[in-house]
Amino acid sequence: MPWTELAVSTANGADLALYVGEDGAYMIRANGLELMSSRNHGSEDVLGAMAGVLARRDGRENEPRILIGGLGLGYTLAAAVKALEGAGRITVAEISADVIDWYERYFEPTLFAERPANMRLVGADVATLLAGTSDRYDVIVLDVDNGPRALASPDNDRLYSAEGLGALRAALADGGMLLVWSGFEAPDFAGRAAAAGFDVACETVAIPERPGLFHYIYRLAKAAA
Ligand SMILES: C[S@@+](CC[C@H](N)C(=O)[O-])C[C@H]1O[C@@H](n2cnc3c(N)ncnc32)[C@H](O)[C@@H]1O
Repeated sequence: MPWTELAVSTANGADLALYVGEDGAYMIRANGLELMSSRNHGSEDVLGAMAGVLARRDGRENEPRILIGGLGLGYTLAAAVKALEGAGRITVAEISADVIDWYERYFEPTLFAERPANMRLVGADVATLLAGTSDRYDVIVLDVDNGPRALASPDNDRLYSAEGLGALRAALADGGMLLVWSGFEAPDFAGRAAAAGFDVACETVAIPERPGLFHYIYRLAKAAA
């Protein structure tokens, strides 16, 4: 089914474009490759729900703190908001002001009657946000590329490096969890995460619309130092 270009953005070293399909679906491409589509968002929903459940475990029911890197079309955010049921707070860091504009114009009205009071949307690179705060999170969600390999911004590889993983680990509360969405298996990344002090597990999520294909959620638990 053909896509029609609605808007383009060239900030942050990546060409982003928003498309609409004849069926009313939306898609964001980064440098010509699909970054996110509303036709297929099951694993992004699972990611957000998982973040909510993990953030509320072990008696953190009242003040669970979640950081989501990458807004996209907002599905992961919406699932996390639902799972928290108004508790705690969710910070979303989105690098592209244009994506925030597209979200507010096209997607937010379909996800929420009004913006949830426990959600904060920040126009920032998630790595920069982390470098400038002493806040600690129960769960950090990274879905900024198509997996732990730079696509949406050339700088993103630093997030998946030993140094970047160290910074992410430092931003987690004790017992916290880093969740990384991926469209592919990433054994090298899993090895770096283990070396950086994470207990690593990977959840496979089937894609009903594409039988035989899978998405992956890397679950990196902050191991005791
Ligand atoms: C794959 S989409 C996220 C999809 C989202 N989970 C959803 O449910 O629609 C990736 C998003 O991350 C943003 N992004 C890329 N690099 C980023 C960074 N370093 N910091 C914050 N946002 C980033 C992109 O602009 C894009 O909006």
